[in-house]
Amino acid sequence: MEVHVVSKSKNQVNAVATLDRLEYEQHGLAASSVRVQPLLITLCSNNLSYARGGDLLHGWDTYPVPAGLPKPYNDRKSWGIVPAWGYGVVTESMTQISPGTLLWGAEISESRQRLMTIITATPKKAKIEYPDFMSGIKTWTSLSSLVDAKELKRMSWVSLFRPTWQTGYLLSHHTFTSDTTSRSPIHPLGIDLPWTPADADISAAVVISLSAAGKTARAFAYHMFWRNAAKEGPIWFLQISQTPELLESVPRILGTDIPTKAVRYDLVGGSAELIEGLDPKRIVLVDFGGRAGTLAQLIESIKSHSALGEVQTTIIHVGSEQNVYSADEIKGNCQTMQTVGEVQFNTCGVRDAVIE
Ligand SMILES: NC(=O)c1ccc[n+]([C@@H]2O[C@H](COP(=O)([O-])OP(=O)(O)OC[C@H]3O[C@@H](n4cnc5c(N)ncnc54)[C@H](OP(=O)(O)O)[C@@H]3O)[C@@H](O)[C@H]2O)c1
Repeated sequence: MEVHVVSKSKNQVNAVATLDRLEYEQHGLAASSVRVQPLLITLCSNNLSYARGGDLLHGWDTYPVPAGLPKPYNDRKSWGIVPAWGYGVVTESMTQISPGTLLWGAEISESRQRLMTIITATPKKAKIEYPDFMSGIKTWTSLSSLVDAKELKRMSWVSLFRPTWQTGYLLSHHTFTSDTTSRSPIHPLGIDLPWTPADADISAAVVISLSAAGKTARAFAYHMFWRNAAKEGPIWFLQISQTPELLESVPRILGTDIPTKAVRYDLVGGSAELIEGLDPKRIVLVDFGGRAGTLAQLIESIKSHSALGEVQTTIIHVGSEQNVYSADEIKGNCQTMQTVGEVQFNTCGVRDAVIE
């Protein structure tokens, strides 16, 4: 059995280690346990973040490296397994869940209690999506041999979007809410820091989404497009991406009345000229991981512009450029965030606050 392991201190370093089959098979299942084989998983930028935040957010607790791996990969202090969202099938069971059951979600043993609550609390336990999905099937090689293409496609989309869709919803409904009579505005970190109705108000703002083509950014755009432009704003929604042509038809398809435009990264320097005539009272930059230097370029373009330099600017950091970073680079990125006044968004924190 092959196991993909990643160096905890240097995420660039990774390896595939072989778990001795005999040893694995001799390792009997404990009471109330199931053995699950992954069938469909999502690999995206978020997995890079899970590795990067493996210590801080305890992501390494999800799947500690098996003791039976060859040295040095069995050293839990140095090596970890990056978790991924998806579906798995129960292959052995010491519970009432029968082998062949398809599962979605996280298993929440004591050893996983420090994981983010979006992982351990949704759902309260792994959700049984298809009981007896494969009962009676003794061998399975791939999901595509068991479900039709349409169902496989649906499961793939669920696997991709289910974990990150809520980020866009929470950001556009609870951090930037105009309905402060029924909802308390929630600070992007979700903790007890000041975040006033004025902070949450984007009714007279230009909102700019950086790295707008990623899944999380698409969820945010979707929810922005459903806002009531006249009452809630924003007055303009600018999306910056390497592939603006993919984003252009979306507003028309959704029938939004939010004025919007998608542009390529190389036009970022001229963004201020695009905005100036709109007379915004506020500019909100939401960074989903814009490519190297674009956020700095955008800020410079706005600050140096005579008509915009004094406009209140808020920068929300959702993600970093899709990359594997060294410890020094992570430190440098944190310092830059502080210097430019970026506010970190934390889905887990905001979600917990909303539920509370
Ligand atoms: N703070 C939170 O609570 C939270 C929650 C969810 C996700 N996140 C973070 O948000 C970020 C986006 O995650 P995601 O899963 O939505 O991303 P994703 O779908 O994997 O994003 C892919 C996008 O990244 C952009 N990109 C930038 N550099 C690239 C490169 N060199 N090669 C290919 N694509 C590149 C492209 O969009 P463009 O061309 O438009 O740049 C591409 O469409 C991640 O950092 C993730 O960890 C944070």
